[in-house]
Amino acid sequence: MELYFAPMEGITTCLYRRIHAEIFPGTDRYYAPFLAPDGQGNCRSSSLRDILPENNADIDLVPQILCNRPEAFLRVARLLADMGYREVNLNVGCPSSTVVPKHKGAGMLLDLNSLDIFLAEVFSRCPLRISVKTRLGMESAAEFPAILEIYNRYPIHQLIIHARDRNGMYKSEPDLAAFAAAYRESRAPVCYNGNLFSPASLQTVLAAAPELNAAMLGRGAVTDPALFRRLRGGAPLCAEELAEFLRRLEAAFLSAGIPEHYALARLKEIWFYTIHMFPGSPKGAKAINKAQSLADYHAAADRLLQNNFSPTAAFSG
Ligand SMILES: Cc1cc2nc3c(=O)[nH]c(=O)nc-3n(C[C@H](O)[C@H](O)[C@H](O)COP(=O)(O)O)c2cc1C
Repeated sequence: MELYFAPMEGITTCLYRRIHAEIFPGTDRYYAPFLAPDGQGNCRSSSLRDILPENNADIDLVPQILCNRPEAFLRVARLLADMGYREVNLNVGCPSSTVVPKHKGAGMLLDLNSLDIFLAEVFSRCPLRISVKTRLGMESAAEFPAILEIYNRYPIHQLIIHARDRNGMYKSEPDLAAFAAAYRESRAPVCYNGNLFSPASLQTVLAAAPELNAAMLGRGAVTDPALFRRLRGGAPLCAEELAEFLRRLEAAFLSAGIPEHYALARLKEIWFYTIHMFPGSPKGAKAINKAQSLADYHAAADRLLQNNFSPTAAFSG
């Protein structure tokens, strides 16, 4: 089974990916958070820096584009080809209310004729393989057969299915029956995504789609950075590894010139997930949230790591 780290905007940056790959080797591929080009195909320089090959040495990285204009998509794809990438991922899953009304991300599913035209344009001219990360629909998975009919017209390198509709945001139960049907009918190889938080959750997905050979983990892996190893039957996370991971991340943020208050905010975002490894410690969670300085933060994090860590806990929404 191939296991991929999902793109998580604001979290799985190049610094995060590098340190994760060093401490927890064995993730088959990382997907970068989206590049969002403007109408001319220009991207923010910070987003481009994040995917520069020199900032992603020794990891298999697939950049992602969030965009509904073929020319802009192709301009970024050419830039990625010049950097040496061989694959680009199209985001058809972002549920944000600032993205969807512009018919981007999951909003591309609002008008299937436009989606078809977009795909025809980019597949006829893109220098890279294209994979697609999609939701099952806007309002219901019942939309997916019509969506898949369009995807099946194109040589999609891999179809990553986040098994929810857009209205489910990140909360509804993944629809495994709809996923299994999509898996059977897709011409492109399929990767599963959605709520893989433990070995048991992977088994549930495999019961629905026994031939599945690729899965993508997001929040579960930010909660437990050793989840890839655990899903392969390896040892669960230990507190020392987690402490080292967090220490190395902090050091990397600071040595990249990120100011202390911003480094603290970035660490708190990671702790929003990883606090689930410390069940039954609401005071510890509050202390992390309330930390005003890295010194406060260290005191709170050390206390949690020494007293409340549970190696088999998992993200629970
Ligand atoms: C904070 C956050 C940022 C995300 N950023 C992206 C992104 O840049 N591109 C993308 O395709 N999906 C993004 N996602 C969605 C995840 O990649 C993934 O599809 C989703 O979290 C479901 O997987 P999970 O249940 O394993 O977390 C993001 C999700 C979260 C919670």
